Order: sequence, then structure tokens, then C-alpha cells
Amino acid sequence: MLNEPRREHICLSPPSERSRREFLIAAGATGAGVAAFLIVGCGDDGEPDLVMLGYPRQRIAALSELRQGEPVDFAYPAGGEQNFVVKLGEAAQIGVGPEEDIVAFSYLCTHMGCPLIGQYKDEHKIMGPCPCHFTTFDLRHNGMVVLGQATQNLPQIALLVEGDDIYATGVIGLFYGAGSNLRDARVEVRS
Ligand code: FES
Repeated sequence: MLNEPRREHICLSPPSERSRREFLIAAGATGAGVAAFLIVGCGDDGEPDLVMLGYPRQRIAALSELRQGEPVDFAYPAGGEQNFVVKLGEAAQIGVGPEEDIVAFSYLCTHMGCPLIGQYKDEHKIMGPCPCHFTTFDLRHNGMVVLGQATQNLPQIALLVEGDDIYATGVIGLFYGAGSNLRDARVEVRS
């Protein structure tokens, strides 16, 4: 059940404390004009400089029920998408949880949309190779392409942990075949 869209403020570490690459990925620069942005950087007041608006906040799993290397499926943000959340057992970029190793992504390959269900390899923390043309994505590094035909990262779901609950709060990147992840999402830049 989806909650009403709401304003999410997730304050990431300033760029000086993270790599420039991670900063840019977090900024969600898709080049597709899609409002798929995560909050980036913080002002002196601790408030984020960029916030993601319009995405719903949706509980997707329980922290205590996640097992390393066993993806759990969920739909987000509209209900028909195929996504997974997985505990990698190693810290990941924008990973959440006590070990910062919980991440979530779309199952749809960014090359031509083939589903990657069943292709997770826990030994290397990768999703793939894609059964269609062998693209493989690194889940520790924002779904970066490490092999194959695709040129775009696997869309990553922004997560938030509260107690034992894991919430999806937005999407970084564009789902394969989608003109927009969420029609009414928009970006606000603080002056
Ligand atoms: S659809 Fe996945 S590599 Fe082509």
C-alpha cells in the first residue's frame, strides 16, 4: 500500500567526505530531464541543499528479516515496478543499515530491459550477467556497469531505516522504458 507522496529530507555527507563520483551519482544527473534526484549536500544548518520531492515513502522490508545474499522483491514507487533489496555483507555507496550494506535496485537491465531476476552473485556483489546480452552491474557502486552492453547504472532505490523498518524514499536514475519514474516528482534547490 503506497502512502501519499511526501517531502523527504535525507542529508548525505558533504562532498568533501565522499568521492566526487558518488556525489554526482547521488545528484541523479540522468540527462533525461527526469526528476529522479536524491538530496545532496547539507547547508550549515544541517538541511539538505537539494531535496527529492513527490516520491512516496513506502515500507519494503524488515531489517531483521534480511539475509545476506538473498534479495527480497518489492514494487516501488507506483506498484508495477520490479525491484529488489539486498544485504551485501559489505559497505556500499549510499547503503543503509548498521553496516551500510543494504541497497535496492530495479530488476530491469538498462540496456534493453531484460529482467535480472535470479542473477545476483553474492560472491562478487554484482547483479548479472544479464541473460540477454551479459551486462553486469556492481551493487557496491551505485549499480555501475562493469561488463556488457548497457551504458547506464542500474536505477537505485533510495532507502531509509527507522528501527526495524526499511523504507524506499525515491529513485536515482530512470527505470528502463519509463518516460518518468513518477509524474509529479520535482526538484527543489535551496538558495
Ligand atoms: S538487455 Fe541486458 S544486456 Fe541487453
